[in-house]
Amino acid sequence: MAEEQTVQSEETQEPRERLDPETRARRDGALRHVRKYGDPALRTRARPVEVFDAALADEVRRMGNLMDDAIGIGLAATQLGVMHRLLVYRVDPEAPLGVLVNPEFEYKSEELETMEEGCLSLPGVGVEVERPAEVRVRATDETGAPIVVEASGLEARVIQHEIDHLDGVLILDRTSRDQRKQAMRAMREAVAGGSPPDSPAVSA
Ligand code: NI
Repeated sequence: MAEEQTVQSEETQEPRERLDPETRARRDGALRHVRKYGDPALRTRARPVEVFDAALADEVRRMGNLMDDAIGIGLAATQLGVMHRLLVYRVDPEAPLGVLVNPEFEYKSEELETMEEGCLSLPGVGVEVERPAEVRVRATDETGAPIVVEASGLEARVIQHEIDHLDGVLILDRTSRDQRKQAMRAMREAVAGGSPPDSPAVSA
């Protein structure tokens, strides 16, 4: 049995009144571009990126802006209906945008961690997900230059969450049956309520 730790996200505690109207409007606008639960794009395995051109660089920039506006920490191309293997993320607000094209795991730790995760494609949902605590990923950047990322903590988590998106896997597939049921209920309520709620968890 691998050792298991539970970590709590600070952002989980963020009260929903914290979003000012302008930030909320920008977030709602960005979220309208994100495919939501039920869209087949979220259940389809994406193809490798083969062309590294100016259009790809533009796409990366657009994804970074959308992720920031949506107040997410990660975004996969498939969440925008673009079915190739590209993801962006940023865990530390001061850090440059992380870009992984055609990512492959080289290593996943046996040590696991459980943390609440949200997803920009699952409005109102926060479920506990157990994942390897550390990963090493080989990928390229948007110019095709090879990169290797060694990540732990929230960075390891968001990278795994986004690679799951590229494989058509959602956090609902990685949580308990009880939490999945609660999540489905939360989504129905969020949809009925009109405007998406502030996320209960760090969303990606
Ligand atoms: Ni997600």
